[in-house]
Amino acid sequence: MTATTYLITGGCGFIGSHLTDALLARGDAVTVLDDLSTGRAANLRQSAAHPRLHVVQGSVLDGLLVDELTHQCDVVVHLAAAVGTRLIADHPLRSLTTNIRGAETVIAAAHRYRRKILLASSSEIYGKNTAVPLGEDAERILGSTAVARWSYGTATAVDELMAAAYHRERGLPAVIARLFNTVGPRQSPAYGVVVPRLVRQALAARPLTVYGDGTQTRCFVHVLDVVDALIRLLDEPLAVGQTFNVGSAEEVSILELAKTVIELTRSSSPVEMVPYHEVHEKEVYERGFEDLPRRVPDTSRLRALTGWRPTRNLDDILLDTITDTIRETARGKSR
Ligand SMILES: NC(=O)c1ccc[n+]([C@@H]2O[C@H](COP(=O)([O-])OP(=O)(O)OC[C@H]3O[C@@H](n4cnc5c(N)ncnc54)[C@H](O)[C@@H]3O)[C@@H](O)[C@H]2O)c1
Repeated sequence: MTATTYLITGGCGFIGSHLTDALLARGDAVTVLDDLSTGRAANLRQSAAHPRLHVVQGSVLDGLLVDELTHQCDVVVHLAAAVGTRLIADHPLRSLTTNIRGAETVIAAAHRYRRKILLASSSEIYGKNTAVPLGEDAERILGSTAVARWSYGTATAVDELMAAAYHRERGLPAVIARLFNTVGPRQSPAYGVVVPRLVRQALAARPLTVYGDGTQTRCFVHVLDVVDALIRLLDEPLAVGQTFNVGSAEEVSILELAKTVIELTRSSSPVEMVPYHEVHEKEVYERGFEDLPRRVPDTSRLRALTGWRPTRNLDDILLDTITDTIRETARGKSR
């Protein structure tokens, strides 16, 4: 069998780098296009000398570059995006441009060369819908356009609609993967993501900050389980033209999460409750920040088609994140 060449936009990022590793490991070739805005070349350091890896530093907004790289590949995986509540609040214009125009550029190039494309979407498109579990056809309930958070979900929904329209009207072989909270090694703490933040706080013996009363719950899935889901979807011809939730249904409250992090790191840190009205001053969010009480995915569509289910639990996720954070901190100190 000849190797398939994948173009992975955002391949130096958290999820993209793990997907790159997995595709290289099974014998495929990967071209990564990344502008290193939130991703890091170091995320691919283990594969840097791999003969089937080609890393291009550039933007998905560069139409000529995207055209050339798409022409040279067999399959496109679009993961490049402005991600994270803080980034979107701080740079709304750049985020919208990257997420809407970037996706359009990549989707149009995939269509031009008749390449299959897998587009990463997000559970943010469900907005404030707290139905449990959330199926792919659940309503989108969004807040005011004045709240930056909803601009990300809106842009992501536009990307999905664009891919779906190209599929229906022009026959583009497109698959949409709606990712829920994905966690694990290499995730940046910089963008308001809760697990890497709590782990770093615990390891530095600082208080673990929990917003509100901590009863809000989240479902975390290990990045390697997400990579497994993405590869199953890429390999399954019947996935084309469909949208799939990817995530775990194991719910944990943020307060319980903080306590588990303290236990697993054997930290002496206390938990510090931060009322939502103080979150703005203390942390990263814009005024009017809205948190969600819960968000639980229904992944039965993905399981029925591919047999996928997550294989790692919360302790596995946290232990892997803790080990990686300790290693990264040691690397930083030895530099
Ligand atoms: N991590 C999660 O929990 C989660 C949840 C839902 C959806 N997603 C989606 O998964 C995808 C990957 O997210 P991630 O968590 O790995 O985040 P990440 O920030 O680690 O990865 C995004 C990558 O895209 C790159 N990038 C940004 N703008 C670019 C541009 N203009 N041109 C080229 N590259 C650019 C960044 O440098 C980075 O490497 C994103 O589309 C994100 O919306 C992630």
